[in-house]
Amino acid sequence: MFNSSKVVGLPLSRIDGPLKVTGTAGYAAEYSAPDMLHGYVVCSTVATGTITKIDTSAAEAFPGVVKIYTYENRPKAAWRDSKWKDEVALPGHPLRPLNNDRILFDGQPVALVVADSFEAARDAAALVQVTYEAGEPHTDLAREQGDSYVPPVPRMQAFMPPKPRGDSEAAFAQAPHQISAEYTIEGEHHNPMELFATTAIRHEDGSYLIHDKSQGSQNSHDYICNIFSLDPETVVVRNSYVGGAFGSGLRPKHQLFFAVMASLDLKRSVRVEMSRQEMFYLTWRPTSIQTVSLAADDKGHLQSVMHHALHATSRYEDYQENVANWSGLAYKCDNVTISYEIAKLDVPTPGDMRAPGAATGITALETAMDELAYEVGIDPLELRVINFIHRDQNTDKDLTSKALHACYREGAERFGWSERSHEPRSMREGNELIGWGVATGIWEAQMSPAEAKVRLSSDGKLTVSAAASDIGTGTYTILGQLAAEAFDLSLSDVTVKIGDSSLPKTTVEGGSWTAASSGTAVQVAAKMVIATLLKAAQKIDNSPLAKATEEQVEVAEGRLVLETNHQVGIALSDIMAAAGLDEIEEHAKIEPDKSIQKKYSAYTHSAVFVEVRVDEELGQVRVTRVVDAVAAGRILNPKTARSQILGGVVMGIGMALHEEGMVDHRTGRIMNHNLAEYHVPAHADIEEIDVIFVEEDDDKASPIGVKGLGEIGIVGVAAAVSNAIFHATGSRIRSFPITIDKVLGATALESETLQ
Ligand code: MOS
Repeated sequence: MFNSSKVVGLPLSRIDGPLKVTGTAGYAAEYSAPDMLHGYVVCSTVATGTITKIDTSAAEAFPGVVKIYTYENRPKAAWRDSKWKDEVALPGHPLRPLNNDRILFDGQPVALVVADSFEAARDAAALVQVTYEAGEPHTDLAREQGDSYVPPVPRMQAFMPPKPRGDSEAAFAQAPHQISAEYTIEGEHHNPMELFATTAIRHEDGSYLIHDKSQGSQNSHDYICNIFSLDPETVVVRNSYVGGAFGSGLRPKHQLFFAVMASLDLKRSVRVEMSRQEMFYLTWRPTSIQTVSLAADDKGHLQSVMHHALHATSRYEDYQENVANWSGLAYKCDNVTISYEIAKLDVPTPGDMRAPGAATGITALETAMDELAYEVGIDPLELRVINFIHRDQNTDKDLTSKALHACYREGAERFGWSERSHEPRSMREGNELIGWGVATGIWEAQMSPAEAKVRLSSDGKLTVSAAASDIGTGTYTILGQLAAEAFDLSLSDVTVKIGDSSLPKTTVEGGSWTAASSGTAVQVAAKMVIATLLKAAQKIDNSPLAKATEEQVEVAEGRLVLETNHQVGIALSDIMAAAGLDEIEEHAKIEPDKSIQKKYSAYTHSAVFVEVRVDEELGQVRVTRVVDAVAAGRILNPKTARSQILGGVVMGIGMALHEEGMVDHRTGRIMNHNLAEYHVPAHADIEEIDVIFVEEDDDKASPIGVKGLGEIGIVGVAAAVSNAIFHATGSRIRSFPITIDKVLGATALESETLQ
């Protein structure tokens, strides 16, 4: 009942773009209210221990200070963490800001200074004197390995390793080719441009409009209402525009708690914005140590896969992600053992960060695959091709689709892979060693329950609404496109309202599921409006559509018409006038199809090709070319889709070469908590990135054929870079990020052995 693609599939610019570039899109810290107060957080300067004394007298005397909160005077929050369940809940006890005198990690909030200006709050915060009895910090994962454990309460059953299959130990021992290696990845910190901030605007009647930087306005809303016992009807939370998040905004952050706590106590509007340094005391991609052992026969067919993954968690929660299970389904192999553990450190609870788990585990697996290719003596791409499988061996389910062969083929062709010489250190230009590497990427194609409303007004314009978030991904635009397409309109005829807790129920934006989920809800709501139009049309005397079914009609050029004959139909305005309707609004509620999920697994796939140039004397690595070929089902908007992949690749380059939270393990404190010393790729680090979307038809992953794109762009990139560095230099560096010191150390060794 829908037209062939007219709006969906076009590379349209995002509808929120002009608002963003002109500064008119409001972010959480940009809202104000008359008489608004400002909060500033004081963070602990020890990683573990207890607070023995807090002296706030000097700070309180500072001009403009209204009140200082510590654990000693914090208003009671009826903490109902047993009743309220964070959509992204973890086993354990979420942080309760200012709950008691215990310190669990460096940077933990220990006081909130509220003043009549931001500057006063900040300056007074520096005068709060906190005395600690510091404990001995344990922040080094390598040293705490002995205390690792299997999470007793799974965050998600699907994160737990599948049962071992076959006999991986015996198959490993018998195979002619084996590799086994340990891979470490340092912790990474989410650093979206927009700082975490909440502006709690209190109305005279005690109701609230809260602007919160988050990936889910309703998750924040329910959290606030539960812990402060607020009537849900009196609170609206908005995240109209989000300046990046990458998973850091999935769970409510302490600035939301503080802004609302102070506002309720002081009966004033309050804004709390974090500093850049504080952003490093929040969620992070945990430090990991992994061992991968692979074995193959003489042709390269995998005989055994063993993958053990360990990563850090905090003292108070068992953070978990799916790190290693990918190794059981990426390639065909009948002997597989996967194990997964976590270890407690004196650190903040880690959190989901773009492709959580996969970015970590597949970095290890895909570097190991490259090692195996060299052990067997075949082309690394060929090794992947011959071990392809169109089945999820972990769950023994068929796949909804897997156009990975096309990714390998089209990516290789665009990159020029066939020109590659197999031997390491065989390509050089002047001082630069040139290397080409490849890796596979995988992410889940998920759907979550979603609701949306579509309203058609008598002027022929549409309004789409849902609580959904756009964290920079393009949600506004693609939801508008889907609605426009259903009514044969252009995108400019559609108003999209999202980022508001009072709108139809939507889960947090994460896991790459928003396009598939909210997109389906919008399409279903649009169909419902058309069905209502048809019913109204059939009540008209001598209606030409009297016998038509919902499947037989569509909207074209402002008329409801027969799909097979556009001459037969009635203008929408006539239908609405005849029925006496000013508008038609329908509310769709969709859920993933359980019968499909029972039978099929759904994943997105990619093949990443990377060229590096390594300065032999300086050890500097440049990523000069990347081709990322992605199979992600139907692409709703090639422009916003490409941007997602570009961003993912850039983050992947950061993971490979730059990003690393550096902790002084003697104090347990992070040392490089600023964007000068925590390196992320800058413009000068990014050269050519080519994105290919291969054709992939999938009617099962989601009803609209979409698989999601937020995460897949990062997956495999770090491995492809490390494999390219090996090809360039002949040195295998298994510790990420691959910084200059590691390259220099390894290449110096390599040159010596060659002499
Ligand atoms: Mo994504 S890490 O689920 O926001």
